[in-house]
Amino acid sequence: MSKFLKKLLKGVLAEEDLEKVYSSFDMIGDIAIIKIPDSLLTKKNIIGEVILESIKNLKTVFLQRSSVSGEYRLRGLEVIAGNEKYVTYYREYGCKFLVNVATTYFSPRLSTERLRISNLVSPGEIVVNMFAGVGTFSVIMAKKHQIKVYNIDSNLDAYILSIMNSRINRLTDRIFSIHGDSQYVLSSNSFKNRIDRVLLPLPERAHEFVDVSINCLRPTGGRLHFFSHIKSDTKAGVVPTSEAHIHNLFSKYDFEIEHTQIVRDVAPRLYQTVTDLFISK
Ligand SMILES: C[S@@+](CC[C@H](N)C(=O)[O-])C[C@H]1O[C@@H](n2cnc3c(N)ncnc32)[C@H](O)[C@@H]1O
Repeated sequence: MSKFLKKLLKGVLAEEDLEKVYSSFDMIGDIAIIKIPDSLLTKKNIIGEVILESIKNLKTVFLQRSSVSGEYRLRGLEVIAGNEKYVTYYREYGCKFLVNVATTYFSPRLSTERLRISNLVSPGEIVVNMFAGVGTFSVIMAKKHQIKVYNIDSNLDAYILSIMNSRINRLTDRIFSIHGDSQYVLSSNSFKNRIDRVLLPLPERAHEFVDVSINCLRPTGGRLHFFSHIKSDTKAGVVPTSEAHIHNLFSKYDFEIEHTQIVRDVAPRLYQTVTDLFISK
Protein backbone atom coordinates (compact mmCIF):
# COMPACT_ATOMS: atom_id res chain seq x y z
CA MET A 1 0.00 0.00 0.00
CA SER A 2 2.88 2.34 0.82
CA LYS A 3 4.35 2.32 -2.68
CA PHE A 4 0.83 2.44 -4.13
CA LEU A 5 0.04 5.78 -2.48
CA LYS A 6 3.38 7.30 -3.48
CA LYS A 7 2.91 6.02 -7.02
CA LEU A 8 -0.53 7.62 -7.22
CA LEU A 9 0.80 10.94 -6.03
CA LYS A 10 3.93 10.97 -8.20
CA GLY A 11 3.75 13.97 -10.54
CA VAL A 12 1.07 15.54 -8.32
CA LEU A 13 3.32 16.28 -5.34
CA ALA A 14 6.91 17.53 -5.41
CA GLU A 15 9.57 14.89 -4.63
CA GLU A 16 10.23 16.30 -1.14
CA ASP A 17 6.50 16.20 -0.34
CA LEU A 18 6.21 12.63 -1.66
CA GLU A 19 8.82 11.57 0.92
CA LYS A 20 6.52 12.81 3.70
CA VAL A 21 3.42 10.87 2.59
CA TYR A 22 2.44 8.28 5.24
CA SER A 23 2.98 4.72 4.29
CA SER A 24 -0.52 3.25 4.40
CA PHE A 25 -4.22 4.01 4.50
CA ASP A 26 -7.37 2.11 5.38
CA MET A 27 -9.88 0.97 2.76
CA ILE A 28 -13.25 0.12 4.31
CA GLY A 29 -15.73 -0.77 1.56
CA ASP A 30 -16.06 2.31 -0.64
CA ILE A 31 -14.44 4.60 1.95
CA ALA A 32 -10.72 5.43 2.23
CA ILE A 33 -9.26 6.91 5.43
CA ILE A 34 -5.83 8.52 5.16
CA LYS A 35 -3.45 10.36 7.47
CA ILE A 36 -1.53 13.37 6.17
CA PRO A 37 1.37 15.08 7.97
CA ASP A 38 0.71 18.70 9.06
CA SER A 39 3.16 20.02 6.49
CA LEU A 40 1.00 18.59 3.65
CA LEU A 41 -2.41 19.66 4.99
CA THR A 42 -2.68 22.51 2.46
CA LYS A 43 -2.64 19.82 -0.25
CA LYS A 44 -5.22 17.53 1.40
CA ASN A 45 -7.94 18.09 -1.23
CA ILE A 46 -5.61 17.41 -4.18
CA ILE A 47 -4.40 14.23 -2.46
CA GLY A 48 -7.99 13.18 -1.75
CA GLU A 49 -9.14 13.80 -5.34
CA VAL A 50 -6.23 11.80 -6.79
CA ILE A 51 -7.06 8.83 -4.54
CA LEU A 52 -10.79 9.12 -5.35
CA GLU A 53 -10.15 9.15 -9.11
CA SER A 54 -7.65 6.29 -9.00
CA ILE A 55 -9.55 3.66 -7.01
CA LYS A 56 -12.53 2.11 -8.74
CA ASN A 57 -15.87 2.36 -6.91
CA LEU A 58 -14.41 4.59 -4.16
CA LYS A 59 -17.02 7.11 -2.98
CA THR A 60 -15.35 9.00 -0.13
CA VAL A 61 -11.88 9.92 1.08
CA PHE A 62 -11.58 10.97 4.73
CA LEU A 63 -8.65 12.63 6.40
CA GLN A 64 -8.10 11.18 9.88
CA ARG A 65 -7.92 14.32 12.05
CA SER A 66 -7.29 12.69 15.40
CA SER A 67 -6.06 9.39 16.73
CA VAL A 68 -8.44 6.71 18.01
CA SER A 69 -9.59 7.72 21.49
CA GLY A 70 -12.30 7.60 24.16
CA GLU A 71 -14.34 4.69 25.47
CA TYR A 72 -15.77 3.90 22.03
CA ARG A 73 -12.34 4.12 20.34
CA LEU A 74 -13.41 6.64 17.66
CA ARG A 75 -11.31 8.84 15.36
CA GLY A 76 -12.02 12.36 14.08
CA LEU A 77 -12.75 12.38 10.33
CA GLU A 78 -12.93 15.16 7.72
CA VAL A 79 -14.12 14.51 4.19
CA ILE A 80 -11.50 15.66 1.66
CA ALA A 81 -12.95 14.14 -1.53
CA GLY A 82 -16.24 12.60 -2.64
CA ASN A 83 -19.53 12.34 -0.75
CA GLU A 84 -19.78 12.91 2.98
CA LYS A 85 -20.99 9.45 3.90
CA TYR A 86 -19.95 7.38 6.87
CA VAL A 87 -21.75 4.08 6.39
CA THR A 88 -20.44 1.38 4.10
CA TYR A 89 -20.42 -2.36 3.49
CA TYR A 90 -17.10 -4.11 4.11
CA ARG A 91 -16.36 -7.69 3.03
CA GLU A 92 -13.99 -10.11 4.77
CA TYR A 93 -13.55 -13.90 4.31
CA GLY A 94 -16.95 -14.30 2.66
CA CYS A 95 -18.76 -12.27 5.34
CA LYS A 96 -20.38 -8.86 4.87
CA PHE A 97 -20.39 -6.08 7.47
CA LEU A 98 -22.26 -2.82 7.78
CA VAL A 99 -19.89 -0.29 9.34
CA ASN A 100 -20.25 3.33 10.43
CA VAL A 101 -16.69 4.70 10.38
CA ALA A 102 -17.65 7.78 12.43
CA THR A 103 -19.69 6.31 15.29
CA THR A 104 -18.08 2.88 15.72
CA TYR A 105 -14.58 1.43 15.87
CA PHE A 106 -13.57 -0.67 12.91
CA SER A 107 -10.16 -1.67 11.57
CA PRO A 108 -9.49 -3.75 8.45
CA ARG A 109 -5.97 -4.27 9.87
CA LEU A 110 -7.27 -6.88 12.32
CA SER A 111 -8.52 -9.21 9.57
CA THR A 112 -5.62 -11.71 9.85
CA GLU A 113 -6.13 -11.86 13.61
CA ARG A 114 -9.87 -12.44 13.17
CA LEU A 115 -9.13 -15.40 10.92
CA ARG A 116 -6.41 -16.77 13.23
CA ILE A 117 -8.67 -16.79 16.29
CA SER A 118 -11.62 -18.21 14.36
CA ASN A 119 -9.39 -21.13 13.32
CA LEU A 120 -8.78 -21.97 17.00
CA VAL A 121 -12.48 -22.33 17.85
CA SER A 122 -14.13 -25.78 18.11
CA PRO A 123 -17.77 -26.57 17.29
CA GLY A 124 -20.09 -26.42 20.31
CA GLU A 125 -18.13 -23.73 22.16
CA ILE A 126 -19.74 -20.83 23.99
CA VAL A 127 -17.73 -17.67 23.36
CA VAL A 128 -17.86 -14.14 24.81
CA ASN A 129 -16.57 -11.22 22.73
CA MET A 130 -16.19 -8.62 25.49
CA PHE A 131 -15.53 -5.60 23.24
CA ALA A 132 -17.33 -6.69 20.13
CA GLY A 133 -17.63 -3.46 18.14
CA VAL A 134 -19.80 -4.16 15.07
CA GLY A 135 -19.32 -7.89 15.66
CA THR A 136 -16.59 -8.74 13.16
CA PHE A 137 -14.67 -11.35 15.22
CA SER A 138 -17.96 -13.01 16.18
CA VAL A 139 -19.38 -13.23 12.65
CA ILE A 140 -16.17 -14.68 11.20
CA MET A 141 -16.10 -17.34 13.97
CA ALA A 142 -19.78 -18.20 13.88
CA LYS A 143 -19.79 -18.44 10.09
CA LYS A 144 -17.11 -21.15 10.33
CA HIS A 145 -18.38 -23.13 13.34
CA GLN A 146 -21.63 -24.16 14.99
CA ILE A 147 -21.04 -22.12 18.18
CA LYS A 148 -22.83 -19.64 20.42
CA VAL A 149 -21.24 -16.16 20.72
CA TYR A 150 -22.20 -13.32 23.04
CA ASN A 151 -21.25 -9.83 21.77
CA ILE A 152 -20.95 -7.13 24.41
CA ASP A 153 -20.33 -3.46 23.64
CA SER A 154 -21.07 -0.25 25.52
CA ASN A 155 -21.46 1.79 22.30
CA LEU A 156 -25.14 1.74 21.27
CA ASP A 157 -24.32 2.19 17.55
CA ALA A 158 -21.85 -0.71 17.64
CA TYR A 159 -24.45 -2.86 19.41
CA ILE A 160 -27.11 -2.07 16.78
CA LEU A 161 -24.70 -2.72 13.90
CA SER A 162 -23.58 -6.00 15.50
CA ILE A 163 -27.22 -7.16 15.46
CA MET A 164 -27.57 -6.07 11.83
CA ASN A 165 -24.34 -7.86 10.91
CA SER A 166 -25.55 -11.09 12.53
CA ARG A 167 -28.72 -10.78 10.42
CA ILE A 168 -26.91 -9.93 7.18
CA ASN A 169 -24.73 -13.03 7.61
CA ARG A 170 -27.71 -15.22 8.69
CA LEU A 171 -26.22 -15.97 12.10
CA THR A 172 -28.93 -14.77 14.48
CA ASP A 173 -29.27 -18.29 15.88
CA ARG A 174 -25.57 -18.29 16.86
CA ILE A 175 -24.79 -14.68 17.86
CA PHE A 176 -26.46 -12.72 20.68
CA SER A 177 -25.66 -9.03 21.24
CA ILE A 178 -25.79 -7.25 24.57
CA HIS A 179 -25.52 -3.48 25.04
CA GLY A 180 -23.59 -2.52 28.16
CA ASP A 181 -20.36 -2.39 30.11
CA SER A 182 -18.66 -5.81 30.02
CA GLN A 183 -17.55 -5.43 33.62
CA TYR A 184 -21.17 -5.19 34.70
CA VAL A 185 -22.70 -7.63 32.18
CA LEU A 186 -20.23 -10.42 32.99
CA SER A 187 -20.61 -10.00 36.74
CA SER A 188 -24.12 -11.43 36.47
CA ASN A 189 -24.65 -15.04 37.48
CA SER A 190 -25.95 -15.95 34.01
CA PHE A 191 -22.36 -15.99 32.68
CA LYS A 192 -20.54 -17.46 35.70
CA ASN A 193 -18.74 -20.78 34.94
CA ARG A 194 -20.43 -21.18 31.50
CA ILE A 195 -17.97 -19.91 28.91
CA ASP A 196 -15.26 -21.74 26.89
CA ARG A 197 -13.50 -18.77 25.34
CA VAL A 198 -13.33 -15.01 25.96
CA LEU A 199 -11.98 -12.35 23.58
CA LEU A 200 -10.64 -9.11 25.09
CA PRO A 201 -9.84 -6.95 22.02
CA LEU A 202 -9.41 -3.67 23.93
CA PRO A 203 -5.61 -3.43 24.39
CA GLU A 204 -5.69 -0.12 26.27
CA ARG A 205 -7.94 -1.46 29.06
CA ALA A 206 -8.09 -5.27 28.89
CA HIS A 207 -6.03 -5.47 32.11
CA GLU A 208 -9.03 -4.09 34.04
CA PHE A 209 -11.16 -7.07 32.99
CA VAL A 210 -8.96 -10.01 34.03
CA ASP A 211 -11.05 -11.14 37.03
CA VAL A 212 -14.43 -10.77 35.37
CA SER A 213 -13.33 -12.66 32.23
CA ILE A 214 -11.94 -15.56 34.27
CA ASN A 215 -15.03 -15.63 36.46
CA CYS A 216 -17.18 -16.63 33.50
CA LEU A 217 -14.90 -19.46 32.26
CA ARG A 218 -16.03 -23.05 32.87
CA PRO A 219 -14.86 -24.85 36.06
CA THR A 220 -12.84 -27.14 33.77
CA GLY A 221 -10.98 -24.08 32.48
CA GLY A 222 -11.09 -22.04 29.32
CA ARG A 223 -9.25 -19.77 26.97
CA LEU A 224 -8.66 -16.03 26.82
CA HIS A 225 -7.42 -14.03 23.83
CA PHE A 226 -5.89 -11.09 25.61
CA PHE A 227 -4.84 -7.96 23.68
CA SER A 228 -2.14 -5.64 25.04
CA HIS A 229 -0.23 -2.51 24.06
CA ILE A 230 3.49 -3.06 24.55
CA LYS A 231 6.29 -0.50 24.42
CA SER A 232 9.57 -1.87 23.11
CA ASP A 233 12.67 -0.40 21.48
CA THR A 234 13.13 -3.52 19.36
CA LYS A 235 10.72 -5.83 17.58
CA ALA A 236 12.52 -8.83 19.10
CA GLY A 237 11.70 -7.50 22.57
CA VAL A 238 7.96 -7.27 22.04
CA VAL A 239 6.85 -10.88 22.69
CA PRO A 240 9.03 -11.37 25.82
CA THR A 241 7.83 -8.01 27.22
CA SER A 242 4.23 -8.90 26.44
CA GLU A 243 4.54 -12.28 28.18
CA ALA A 244 6.19 -10.67 31.22
CA HIS A 245 3.20 -8.30 31.38
CA ILE A 246 0.83 -11.32 31.27
CA HIS A 247 2.74 -13.14 34.06
CA ASN A 248 2.41 -10.04 36.17
CA LEU A 249 -1.31 -9.54 35.48
CA PHE A 250 -2.34 -13.17 35.93
CA SER A 251 0.00 -14.04 38.82
CA LYS A 252 -2.81 -15.12 41.16
CA TYR A 253 -4.24 -17.57 38.58
CA ASP A 254 -3.18 -20.99 37.30
CA PHE A 255 -2.52 -20.30 33.62
CA GLU A 256 -0.50 -21.38 30.63
CA ILE A 257 0.53 -19.08 27.79
CA GLU A 258 -0.18 -20.94 24.56
CA HIS A 259 0.92 -18.26 22.13
CA THR A 260 1.87 -14.58 21.91
CA GLN A 261 2.37 -12.53 18.77
CA ILE A 262 2.47 -9.00 17.44
CA VAL A 263 -0.84 -8.02 15.85
CA ARG A 264 0.38 -4.71 14.41
CA ASP A 265 2.52 -1.62 14.99
CA VAL A 266 0.46 1.14 16.58
CA ALA A 267 3.05 3.94 16.80
CA PRO A 268 6.85 4.17 16.85
CA ARG A 269 8.01 1.61 19.47
CA LEU A 270 4.41 0.77 20.44
CA TYR A 271 2.92 -2.58 19.42
CA GLN A 272 -0.43 -4.29 19.74
CA THR A 273 0.00 -7.91 20.83
CA VAL A 274 -2.32 -10.82 21.49
CA THR A 275 -1.74 -13.65 23.96
CA ASP A 276 -3.74 -16.90 23.94
CA LEU A 277 -3.99 -18.26 27.49
CA PHE A 278 -5.47 -21.40 28.97
CA ILE A 279 -6.78 -20.78 32.48
CA SER A 280 -7.24 -23.73 34.89
CA LYS A 281 -9.71 -23.15 37.70
C1 LIG B 1 -10.95 -1.71 19.80
S1 LIG B 1 -12.71 -1.84 19.68
C2 LIG B 1 -12.89 -3.55 19.27
C3 LIG B 1 -13.66 -3.72 18.03
C4 LIG B 1 -13.83 -5.12 17.48
N1 LIG B 1 -13.31 -6.16 18.29
C5 LIG B 1 -13.35 -5.23 16.05
O1 LIG B 1 -12.52 -6.05 15.74
O2 LIG B 1 -13.81 -4.47 15.20
C6 LIG B 1 -13.18 -1.81 21.34
C7 LIG B 1 -14.69 -1.78 21.56
O3 LIG B 1 -14.92 -1.90 22.97
C8 LIG B 1 -16.02 -1.10 23.33
N2 LIG B 1 -15.90 -0.85 24.78
C9 LIG B 1 -15.04 -0.03 25.42
N3 LIG B 1 -15.18 -0.14 26.75
C10 LIG B 1 -16.14 -1.08 26.96
C11 LIG B 1 -16.72 -1.68 28.12
N4 LIG B 1 -16.33 -1.32 29.34
N5 LIG B 1 -17.65 -2.64 27.96
C12 LIG B 1 -18.06 -3.00 26.72
N6 LIG B 1 -17.55 -2.47 25.59
C13 LIG B 1 -16.60 -1.53 25.70
C14 LIG B 1 -15.94 0.12 22.44
O4 LIG B 1 -17.18 0.74 22.28
C15 LIG B 1 -15.40 -0.50 21.12
O5 LIG B 1 -16.44 -0.81 20.24
